[in-house]
Amino acid sequence: MRVLGIETSCDETGVALYDGERGLLAHALHSQVAQHADYGGVVPELASRDHIRRLLPLCERVLDEAGLSRGQLDGIAYTAGPGLVGALMVGSTFAHGLAAALSIPVLGVHHMEGHLLAPMLEERAPAFPFIALLVSGGHTQLVKVAGIGEYELLGESVDDAAGEAFDKAARMLDLSYPGGPHVAALAEEGRAGRFEFPRPMTNRPGLDFSFSGLKTYTRNTLEDVRRNGDDSHQTRADIALAFQTAVVETLAIKCRRALEATGVPRLVVAGGVSANRALRERFAVLAERTGAEIFYPRPVFCTDNGAMIAYAGHERLMAGQCDGEKMLALPRWPMTELPPLSAACREGLA
Ligand code: KG4
Ligand code: ZN
Repeated sequence: MRVLGIETSCDETGVALYDGERGLLAHALHSQVAQHADYGGVVPELASRDHIRRLLPLCERVLDEAGLSRGQLDGIAYTAGPGLVGALMVGSTFAHGLAAALSIPVLGVHHMEGHLLAPMLEERAPAFPFIALLVSGGHTQLVKVAGIGEYELLGESVDDAAGEAFDKAARMLDLSYPGGPHVAALAEEGRAGRFEFPRPMTNRPGLDFSFSGLKTYTRNTLEDVRRNGDDSHQTRADIALAFQTAVVETLAIKCRRALEATGVPRLVVAGGVSANRALRERFAVLAERTGAEIFYPRPVFCTDNGAMIAYAGHERLMAGQCDGEKMLALPRWPMTELPPLSAACREGLA
């Protein structure tokens, strides 16, 4: 089955073509980062309008690259949520319109399920069951994954997501949006040991996270040094490193706990923050210490993309699931509400 995947949940328009026999045929992405840069974050209305402009040319590009015509598509998958409602509606109406014109099935995919399954696009893909650490701009979750749609939430952030914490720290450090890659680059120049940031919620049992305290700690540390007349590049780099180390260390501690508590020997790390180099280095140590195997998407599929949506959609469409005529745009949508792959239809959803 050849599936066109469409991602428009936030500030990236992603389109891809996945073929059940041949794998990923093509993918294309347009990032709106430059458009939102002046505002320090995503402006929903600008995001929706830009998705409208980009979708058709990106679809034509992936079809061209794969040497296919529209008529050779067998199904369409789009991100139905969670995300910005206007942005989601662009993908949803486009996907439903195209599917109706071509008389093929269409399915709304859960964005975080897309992230979670993204490592399946790699040659070294994880077997079920595995533990997934999902670390994006909107979510930080630890999930036990028995199969597609068989998700047990083990823990999640009670406040800011890990990516959101990076974005807020970046703003305090006068770095641009999205902050993760900029904080990571600045941290490369930092000196370890000058500042020690707390590892929130690690000194008590449980698998939940909290990152908003780290944001306050970063602000207070910056105010302290600035009050003492020190606003040097080196000091900001030292703070960026201390912040990043605290986030990464906290994530590693919780993952180790989840692996030990469940006895599952495989860990998937996905979502924008999983592109972080320091995280990958620290998690290599975690793998050595626990004997667990760790799986990541390739860096371009850590952040938002159409390939993960095409893959997740392919698996569910193959199982006979589809939307029917119901266009979905669900800003909030708990992943645990998803049916397993064995459910023949998605009656009653939303
Ligand atoms: O998964 P994603 O593209 O979008 C959401 O679903 O939210 O994640 C975006 C988040 C942003 O907060 C961004 O700052 C963060 O991922 N991010 C990173 C890195 N690359 C992206 N955080 C830390 N280090 C990175 N290299
Ligand atoms: Zn995402």
